[in-house]
Amino acid sequence: MGNASNKTMELFGLSGKVAIVTGAAGQLGGEYIKSLLSAGASVAAFDINFNSTKSKLNSLNSKKLISIEVDITKKKSLNGGLKKVVKTLGYPNILINNAAIDTPPNSDEQDTGPFETYPESSWQMMMDVNLKGTFFACQVIGGHMAKSGGGNIINISSLYGVLSPDQRIYEYKEKPFFKPAAYSVSKAGVLGLTKYLATYWANHNVRVNALVLGGVFNNQDEAFIDNYITKVPLGRMAREDEYNGAILFLASDASSYMTGANIVIDGGFSCW
Ligand SMILES: NC(=O)c1ccc[n+]([C@@H]2O[C@H](COP(=O)([O-])OP(=O)(O)OC[C@H]3O[C@@H](n4cnc5c(N)ncnc54)[C@H](O)[C@@H]3O)[C@@H](O)[C@H]2O)c1
Repeated sequence: MGNASNKTMELFGLSGKVAIVTGAAGQLGGEYIKSLLSAGASVAAFDINFNSTKSKLNSLNSKKLISIEVDITKKKSLNGGLKKVVKTLGYPNILINNAAIDTPPNSDEQDTGPFETYPESSWQMMMDVNLKGTFFACQVIGGHMAKSGGGNIINISSLYGVLSPDQRIYEYKEKPFFKPAAYSVSKAGVLGLTKYLATYWANHNVRVNALVLGGVFNNQDEAFIDNYITKVPLGRMAREDEYNGAILFLASDASSYMTGANIVIDGGFSCW
């Protein structure tokens, strides 16, 4: 037993590693951080807003965790964040590009209206955070890894970056509701960037992979859940801790021969 767990720690352990997680104060960021800390890493939590009720960071209460206000759409802000990480925790070896915006059900009507009238400003905002922000974080932090001996980047994509949203899921709503193209395009772009950088930095010892997530239970309305889960062979939405195993796999040497790939975790949604 002892031997087995030593071997597991050797494979999945992150002791001595320094990780940066963007969008750390959201629903999933805190989960990732919990598992990185438990595997022995020090973690810098980056977010533009730490006051979210979804944040789990305060409850983590670890000396190996620091929080830094960073806006990923601003390179200057990312550079400032990186400087603080290097000074307090050391050189980062792991970057999880998790920050993103989506279009929640209570969004402005135009943002969830027909494709033909989707506002240019909303398109721009989605691209700025989800795609340009990931690009900037890779430039600043990944660039730093590439010249400091290497590292490991995990880009968070979505099922809707791989498949089209099925708009029939939303037909129960009183007003017409469409999941916008901008989210899908931004998350497909993240997969493109992942492959590009995997080859670009391969000989600088920087691995770059993506994690494709299915929908997570978050007290959505019942009709939505019913419609969504008819498309899921496992018959339910994900719990928020169900991506942590993949995060540890991708962040650690357990995935040492993997780059430019994506892991799809969706309860089987993409099989049908
Ligand atoms: N929750 C899901 O069902 C689901 C499904 C598929 C993919 N994803 C992806 O997983 C990731 C995390 O999702 P979540 O549900 O935790 O989202 P969330 O909205 O709870 O958290 C996102 C965090 O990103 C932060 N953020 C937004 N703009 C930022 C900026 N400019 N700079 C820095 N931080 C910024 C927000 O403040 C927030 O804390 C996202 O990339 C999302 O697209 C989530």
